[in-house]
Amino acid sequence: MNPVKLKEGIYWVGEIDWDLRNFHGYLTQRGSTYNAYLILDEKITLIDTVRPYLYEKMMSRVSSLIDPSQIHYIIANHVEMDHSGSLPLLMETARNATIITSPNGQKGLIAHYKRKDWNFKVVKSDESVNLGKRNIKFFHTPMVHWPDNMVSYLEEDNVLFSNDAFGQHIASSERFDDEYPFGIVVEEAKKYYANIVLPYSMLVKKAIDLIAPLAIDMIAPAHGVVWRSYVKMILEEYGKWAANQAEMKALIIYDTMWKSTEKIASIIQKAFESYKIPTKILNLRYNHISDIMNDILTAKFICVGSPTLNSNMLPTVAGFLTYLKGLSPKNRIGLAFGSYGWGGQGVRHVEEVLKGCGFDMIESINVQYIPDETQLQEIFDKLKREISGLLETTRLIGSQG
Ligand code: FEO
Repeated sequence: MNPVKLKEGIYWVGEIDWDLRNFHGYLTQRGSTYNAYLILDEKITLIDTVRPYLYEKMMSRVSSLIDPSQIHYIIANHVEMDHSGSLPLLMETARNATIITSPNGQKGLIAHYKRKDWNFKVVKSDESVNLGKRNIKFFHTPMVHWPDNMVSYLEEDNVLFSNDAFGQHIASSERFDDEYPFGIVVEEAKKYYANIVLPYSMLVKKAIDLIAPLAIDMIAPAHGVVWRSYVKMILEEYGKWAANQAEMKALIIYDTMWKSTEKIASIIQKAFESYKIPTKILNLRYNHISDIMNDILTAKFICVGSPTLNSNMLPTVAGFLTYLKGLSPKNRIGLAFGSYGWGGQGVRHVEEVLKGCGFDMIESINVQYIPDETQLQEIFDKLKREISGLLETTRLIGSQG
């Protein structure tokens, strides 16, 4: 269990969770890491910890470099237990250590671990602490991802310890962005943003503004690989995601009972493709909602279909919509569609949720029983007219800008 050197005196001492496949409902098919970092200076400093079941492995890395009882500061950038979970164990060894955290961090750590006897140093945003040869500066980044979050910037080394921000759920022995297949790193960073950070995009923008003046050689997040070759690129991508910039792309997300809703899904796809708008069909029986969110992060049109079951939508669709609404993407155009035998409430419920997300809406499509060729043609023609109108509006808005 070797530490990995980031720069002189700065080491990754975290742990790899090869088996993790679910992170509070988010499908983590590539596992994850919990990144802790050790700074060897006059005041030995550990940044964040790991889940308690991986504590011994983290400590074997730490112990290969120093005597853990000599740790002077432990920086808790975030209270969530994947980063703070080993604190109770660690504080038994590093008995004289002081925990540096934000005001909300102190409240959260005391609430979680009921340990009022720990030494805390509560830092303001923009405050620096001297470690000896180095200074480390803290910036509060509330709601990226909890109210307590902060990031830590090692001023002399230009390294930003960003905690959840810029993270990716990837288990790998590679530690840097240029050592791992790059398309996967970006895909996992995007999925992470879509499933964890998206609801707080306004605050992400503020956080990006806070760190914008900093010279950054490395972004060392709390999950996944360290950014060193693609720092500029990931900052730009975060800027786009935080601004809810969506591309002309249509997602057609549905479940079906007797394939009538599926037929409507196909004709919707044909209508978008007639304008050369890329589409993706996502049957909720075969696609995990956290993977769908990855597509939603950059798609303008969100079409959601369900047949009516017991006066409501199918549970798969309801589950997806609950997840979608919580993650709160903005500036999207929604379309509800589906089929029914009698009543037809399913599509109306889908429509209500999409409207509740704040989406602009295309008129819903709700067909009784099985749509025949004539009905499908009518849906196609009507939808084409609506898309044409929307594209014209977009073009006009674009030309005004
Ligand atoms: Fe990786 Fe919000 O914890």
